[in-house]
Amino acid sequence: MRLVVTKMNLGLWAAAYVKEKINAFHPTPEKPFVLGLPTGGTVVDLYANLRLFYKEGTLSFKNVVTFNMDEYVGLPKDHPQSYHSYMKQHLFNEVDIRPANCHLLNTQAPDLIQECARYEEAIRRVGGITLFLGGVGKNGHIAFNEPGSALDSRTRPVDLTPNTIQANSRFFLNDESRVPTRALSVGIGTILDAQELLFLASGPAKAAAVARLTRPGVTTDCPLTALKLHPHATLLVDPAACAELTGTPKERLDALMQAAPYAEHWTLEWTEK
Ligand code: GLP
Repeated sequence: MRLVVTKMNLGLWAAAYVKEKINAFHPTPEKPFVLGLPTGGTVVDLYANLRLFYKEGTLSFKNVVTFNMDEYVGLPKDHPQSYHSYMKQHLFNEVDIRPANCHLLNTQAPDLIQECARYEEAIRRVGGITLFLGGVGKNGHIAFNEPGSALDSRTRPVDLTPNTIQANSRFFLNDESRVPTRALSVGIGTILDAQELLFLASGPAKAAAVARLTRPGVTTDCPLTALKLHPHATLLVDPAACAELTGTPKERLDALMQAAPYAEHWTLEWTEK
């Protein structure tokens, strides 16, 4: 597990990383780069920088296939707060990606269980996800895998916790009653199947989840800790998201920061026993 603490804009760091990965892969129509995509406030800058790279001509999405993590149940696709709308606004309408290559869960399908199975099958058919990007909920959720989600869970309908409804109400005029209570979400097992994971967490609201990740063990109480089960997982954070680190992880990070106070990034790496 790798924790990268950066003083840089997280979105720029992550976008540069994604660009490097896609370009090094040399994707073709027969061998596309398959990118798992998140939504949320943290990744707005990531998408802004990906759009910028596209505009300056250093990144193309022609041979990129995407799968979004989740979508609210109960919002039509064209609702301004649907993840369909978010993706169009922040990426799909602005770059050269083929609409047929953009996959999102259809929460208006007549049979949601079948829709989830179709999604898993579509991921399998393209050969799996090359790089899964993600954000982190205040309570440590990844995608909409709330605390208690099984580590081998697959794409399925989920209920959102009051904590998540409260956190996401800022996108719904701060009115919790407007926030959908259900969603379709890829599972933790679906995420762990990807070849590589890059998750982002910023600010003090995510500090408790980040601190839990750096303590020993994997627990369904904090789905973010599942990243430790993956051989190529990185959590990218800003210093504010590290504010609650304690014990050895804190000592190691403090030592790194003292040794290189002017560095832009510090990397903590460890293997879970
Ligand atoms: C939602 C999404 C998650 C995302 C989380 C973090 O709940 N379903 O996938 O990680 O928001 O959002 P933010 O970056 O706005 O804190």
